[in-house]
Amino acid sequence: MRHLMNPLDFSVEELDKLFDLAESISADPAKYAHVCDGKTLATCFYEPSTRTRLSFESAMIHLGGQVLGFSEASSSSAAKGESVSDTIRVISCYADICAMRHPKEGAPMVAASKSGIPVINAGDGGHQHPTQTLTDLMTIRALKGRLGNFTIGLCGDLKFGRTVHSLINALIRYEGIKFIFISPPELRIPDYITDKLIESGIEYEEVIKLEVSIGDLDILYMTRVQRERFFNEEDYVRLKDFYILTNEKLQLAREDMLVLHPLPRVNEISVEVDDDPRAVYFKQAQYGVYVRMALIMTLLGLVSDTDTTP
Ligand code: CP
Repeated sequence: MRHLMNPLDFSVEELDKLFDLAESISADPAKYAHVCDGKTLATCFYEPSTRTRLSFESAMIHLGGQVLGFSEASSSSAAKGESVSDTIRVISCYADICAMRHPKEGAPMVAASKSGIPVINAGDGGHQHPTQTLTDLMTIRALKGRLGNFTIGLCGDLKFGRTVHSLINALIRYEGIKFIFISPPELRIPDYITDKLIESGIEYEEVIKLEVSIGDLDILYMTRVQRERFFNEEDYVRLKDFYILTNEKLQLAREDMLVLHPLPRVNEISVEVDDDPRAVYFKQAQYGVYVRMALIMTLLGLVSDTDTTP
């Protein structure tokens, strides 16, 4: 039985296969409409979510399966003090696969160690968000045609943003990637990540102003300031509008630069940018459904040799 806790749980070759399958699904979703007939996905979300939970549910429904679950800790027996270990043992009696989001780093890993079914980390605290990373990689691969040889700027809350941590973790396995970290000093990328980049000989820069670097980027990955991870509201209010991407700033960027964002957006991308063809964050959300369909099939062992044949 296989779980997904971290993007590195899949090799580069396995990810290629997963993305091939996701592309085949996107080209002909009807072909996969009954792959999960009789299977059930549990979504156990101890933290709020729109995209991750609903895209998992949409993915399972589009595969012909059923869904059950809870969307907040307060409506589960966690409110009475039940541990994730006990919860997953029980969920294993009700479902075939589980996507779990939890505010505590490592909680889905604890669940996986006691689980009778595959567990997918749907975001654990400020740590990892591997299925967002799969979504991001698929978007880049589909729209840039490659997963390597580009400069990516990651902008915003690089301290608490788990999507950023997960994406960097995954991208360091590809050739020719240069990272530009764009953040206020208080929200800079953690040292454990820059230490890893130095050890691996991967080029990176840290800057404060978006305008200084935007012209060098193939991909701009915007993120919101993670209010829920701040210790005090005053700091959040001071930093929340540090970056606002506008059409004026986009004029400094290349014509073929892509703007990604895991969403939800707060103020960091002005809505006027949505009409720019470089803004692909809503397409990215659509890719998230296809890649989660491919992931569910893979973890349930339901992929056949003909599934990636157009
Ligand atoms: N990108 C993402 O994780 O969004 P949600 O918090 O809405 O799931």
